[in-house]
Amino acid sequence: MASILRNKEIFSNESSKVFDSPNRFLDADRAAHGVIRAGETQQQPVAHFLEPLAAKLLHERLDNLLLRGEQLERRDLVALRELGEPDDVGEDNGGQAARMLWCIHGNCPRTVAAWPSASKQNPAGKRGFPCVLAKRGWVPVGFPPLLGMKVYINGKFYSEQNAKVSVFDHGLLYGDGVFEGIRAYHGRLFKLKEHIDRLFCSAKAILLDLPMTHAELMEATLETCRRNKLNDGYIRLLVTRGRGTLGLNPNRCSEPQVIIIAGKIQLYPPSLYKKGMEIVTVATTRNHHNAVNPAIKSLNYLNNIMAKIEANIAGYEEAIMLNTEGYVAECTGDNIFILKDERMFTPPLSSGALHGITRGTAIDLLAELGVPTSEPNMTRYDLFNADECFLTGTGAEIVPVVKIDQRVIGNGKPGPVTKKVVKAYHELTKVSGERIAKR
Ligand SMILES: Cc1ncc(COP(=O)(O)O)c(C=O)c1O
Repeated sequence: MASILRNKEIFSNESSKVFDSPNRFLDADRAAHGVIRAGETQQQPVAHFLEPLAAKLLHERLDNLLLRGEQLERRDLVALRELGEPDDVGEDNGGQAARMLWCIHGNCPRTVAAWPSASKQNPAGKRGFPCVLAKRGWVPVGFPPLLGMKVYINGKFYSEQNAKVSVFDHGLLYGDGVFEGIRAYHGRLFKLKEHIDRLFCSAKAILLDLPMTHAELMEATLETCRRNKLNDGYIRLLVTRGRGTLGLNPNRCSEPQVIIIAGKIQLYPPSLYKKGMEIVTVATTRNHHNAVNPAIKSLNYLNNIMAKIEANIAGYEEAIMLNTEGYVAECTGDNIFILKDERMFTPPLSSGALHGITRGTAIDLLAELGVPTSEPNMTRYDLFNADECFLTGTGAEIVPVVKIDQRVIGNGKPGPVTKKVVKAYHELTKVSGERIAKR
């Protein structure tokens, strides 16, 4: 159900119903998706923080929706665009913007709600969306819209509402489990084999016996995409230790739960890839490999989340993490590369970097472009004096970095080698990967 705000009333494009309050709209939305029964209410707090959202940012988000061509109708987008005009951006659009941003950050532009502000307070934050969220602890809206996904759990498919694991699952109680994030491009699962290989390595490291073979996991991932009619998107594959007792002992856990979710991801707006990103170093040290080895892609991501929180508080979206010796390890969800004197460098895996699959792909593509990559220990000094810098990750792909801790990298614009590798990466995603459709 897509909706727009006009004259302080909310219109739904499905029912042409007019809702006189945001909560009524949200309740109707939930009822439509079977989350609550018609007539019931489940009011959620609405946040208001338009002030720090520049109209420009709003436009970027809308362009982004349009680009992805998802379920909003053109006329809704036009109406939303009108709302985003600088002259028109007022208090009443705060909730709408909040909801829309949630939708995008939560990858769900299907339900875009709007509502009049319930409060005259306009909490101004100086540095924009993530900063305000982190500093003030607000969320745009308390209820995630449903997407009608089919979620795979241990061989069966469940609707989103019914896709559940036990509260005694050690994945939930202790972050005991492993996961992968995989991309689908043009009807193919990119680097699927590599992701499943890494899942097996992570599982082996934590003595978790995966209940499926490599081939079965690949097929289950492909089938989840088929069931969700996913050609382009993001797949989250995770295996939890399973249901256990309240004690730590993993031996008391029953069946591991294999869960596959096929959805969408958009980590950063397209403009950021053009302009390049500014990042900072944070104080949170990357896990020591004798504690929780960063090579294990485990369900315990608190180390990265703590660093991400620091980045957000400082007003940045991504941060560099150093290891216990002070060498650069990686970013909170990406590997890092620098170019110096026509040679590429990335921290060694022993520094505390994840064995990034995009990292490996970038190294191969750079070699084809005639740029060799070495893996020495690196300090912040090396980063500050780089000619170019970029980050790699399945979700983010390849992101140019133009400023680190306020030091301008190169000429402050994405460099030529970075642009070449970004192009080569996109080309590769068009032709490589496991076909989703059955032959
Ligand atoms: C901590 C960390 N580093 C690096 C990466 C990039 O790895 P990949 O390219 O395999 O996605 C990720 C991705 O999830 C990550 O979480």
